[in-house]
Amino acid sequence: MNAPATRQDNPFHAGELAVQQRLGIAERMLEIGQRVVRTHLPEQHREFYAQLPFVMVGSVDGQQRPWASVLVGEQGFIQSPHERQLNFAARPVPGDPLAEGLKPGAPLGFLGIELHTRRRNRVNGQVRDVSDQGFSVDVAQTVGNCPQYIQGREMDWVRDSRDLQPRSREALSALDAPARQLISQADTLFIASHAPGAGADVSHRGGRSGFVHIEDDHTFLVPDFTGNFLFMTLGNLALDPRAGVLFIDFESGDLLTLTGRAEVVWDGELLKSIEAFEGAERAWRFHVESGWRLRAALPLRWRFREWSPNSLITGTWEEAAARLEAERLAQTWRPYRVTRLVDESRVIRSFRLQPADGHALPPFKAGQHLPIRLQPVEGQPPILRNYTISSAPGEDSLRLSIKRDGLASGHLHDRLSVGDVIEALGPRGQFTLDATAHRPAVLIGAGVGITPMISFLRHIVAEGFRHRRTRTTHVIQIAHDAEVRAFAAELQSLAGRANGAVRVHAVLSDGGAGASKGPLTIDLLKSLLPFDDHEFFLCGPGGFMQSLYDGLRDLGVRDERIQAEAFGPGALKRRIEGAAATEFTPAPAPAAKQATVVFTRSGEASVWSPEHGSLLEFAEGKGLSPPFSCRAGNCGTCLTRIQSGRVRYASPPAWRAGANEALLCCTVPAEGGGEHLELDL
Ligand SMILES: Cc1cc2nc3c(=O)[nH]c(=O)nc-3n(C[C@H](O)[C@H](O)[C@H](O)COP(=O)(O)OP(=O)(O)OC[C@H]3O[C@@H](n4cnc5c(N)ncnc54)[C@H](O)[C@@H]3O)c2cc1C
Ligand code: FES
Repeated sequence: MNAPATRQDNPFHAGELAVQQRLGIAERMLEIGQRVVRTHLPEQHREFYAQLPFVMVGSVDGQQRPWASVLVGEQGFIQSPHERQLNFAARPVPGDPLAEGLKPGAPLGFLGIELHTRRRNRVNGQVRDVSDQGFSVDVAQTVGNCPQYIQGREMDWVRDSRDLQPRSREALSALDAPARQLISQADTLFIASHAPGAGADVSHRGGRSGFVHIEDDHTFLVPDFTGNFLFMTLGNLALDPRAGVLFIDFESGDLLTLTGRAEVVWDGELLKSIEAFEGAERAWRFHVESGWRLRAALPLRWRFREWSPNSLITGTWEEAAARLEAERLAQTWRPYRVTRLVDESRVIRSFRLQPADGHALPPFKAGQHLPIRLQPVEGQPPILRNYTISSAPGEDSLRLSIKRDGLASGHLHDRLSVGDVIEALGPRGQFTLDATAHRPAVLIGAGVGITPMISFLRHIVAEGFRHRRTRTTHVIQIAHDAEVRAFAAELQSLAGRANGAVRVHAVLSDGGAGASKGPLTIDLLKSLLPFDDHEFFLCGPGGFMQSLYDGLRDLGVRDERIQAEAFGPGALKRRIEGAAATEFTPAPAPAAKQATVVFTRSGEASVWSPEHGSLLEFAEGKGLSPPFSCRAGNCGTCLTRIQSGRVRYASPPAWRAGANEALLCCTVPAEGGGEHLELDL
């Protein structure tokens, strides 16, 4: 990290800039880097080093191989005589490769870390001089790091601080059984890296036990979670893939120190697993070349106290594999057991669900829904309905919040108890949101249309905690009265955890304490929102959404800034101009006068003509039962693959179907290409 700046005012070297540019954050990081990357140690950091009984060190040996090490001494063994120097009254653990990297002028990286307070601080510099008692370092760069992913541990001395002699020293050329055991249970590691002309560095990585996956005797995989975006380690690896990794057995004082190469996984098959790994943004793979096990080398031991709250919202590779397996079952009707019922209002009840087939919960995006299949009337065909998942991704169950309405919802309210099982396909839906976007979000939910909004908000708050920045969000909840208003307390509690980034407004038909009096007009909306470039998310009755959409468009809000989901028939009529109009309007061709439609699964071919109605109605008339729910182009349940031919939509549906897909409920064969239509049905 301690690179000569590529520009006078830029603290980052070419490797760090390359990673930041790849992720599109270089511009933002320049301003942050200038603030947080210093060339001196502020007073408070000098005092911090002076109170440490150990410090992590990154060094390079004679063959330019990086190693991560730990240096131990009585509290006060590190002193900073002035803001550009650190003195260490300690020598490396005998047999630790650090000894080779301790030469005047050699680059060193330090990580001061306190496991009981989770404080940490990073310094890079060069060795100034070395003596029998210790060495001193000229400071080149310093960065105060945040406490994320550091598990809480209490420390004890078990022998004299000067007794650093390992009880045995074993050379490794691959990962043997004890090494694999330590790594597979590890929740913490330290990685050393080095870039030509840019110094050495050492960095902490933490997660839940199982966050490191051993691929074989020479390789393991480590997820990269959201950090400080400086990309010091990844930046060094971009210039030189050699790296060192240290695992500490906190209970025995054993050290497992490895050197080899680390490659960042930017593409390929593994991306799916990374995506399924809760909290992982990317991953790096370490190829072990050699290493040492230094048994009971440290005179220190640590007692586990608590998980870092950040680690707790991350996954493991095993969980990622289980989620991928669950994703593969998206088209299978899976059984889910009801584990909890909560009445959210007089009319809305929440059902917590857990898979009852031994597979993991399916991954989903906030705002997506679950198609469920029920048989309310014995002997009658099952019915299919969609329900938004009102919990957020990463939670340990799925929550559906259902308003008592007609056949299916009435059955769910009256008949479903804890322990009962219902069937569901995998989550789906295009009404989703980017929880980390910078543009403020306005979530407007009317009646039971609050369900996607509560999922969005839970997700925004969780991601805000993970990323240490919460997307500014206004929730506007419209309900008839306080009795039918669901989630009032939950919304307030989420807002309370968002450090002022979330505001909740209620609009009730009869007004009432703390609420505005409905209906929600554009004027009322303007009075509730500060002037800004917002992104709107709407869910509620069709007429309500249409008038809100039209009002927002009249105010100059662009169509693409308004996302909407209808639970029932009646898709939003969008006013789309320019190039976007062509993008969103599928197949503007007129309807065919007559067409031969082949249902390829049954092999049946029949003649369609306009009086048969939509392809869904036509298929039903032929005795087929394609799944459907909204029958209005909103939910995607009737989405079917077109094997040949073209279809026509009467008006653009809310669900954006792909070029070779048809929403059967709102399409007919198109003229000029649809006269012979083959559907995967
Ligand atoms: C993407 C999506 C997400 C959804 N998310 C949710 C959610 O999170 N929560 C939720 O509660 N719902 C949600 N829905 C709606 C849900 O799928 C059902 O449509 C809803 O529960 C009504 O189904 P039902 O079987 O209870 O009512 P139905 O029996 O289908 O009746 C629908 C409506 O017609 C009325 N009706 C029925 N028969 C008659 C009749 N003979 N005469 C007059 N009126 C009649 C009923 O009273 C009711 O108002 C969602 C829908 C979609 C498409
Ligand atoms: S049934 Fe909902 S899109 Fe066709």
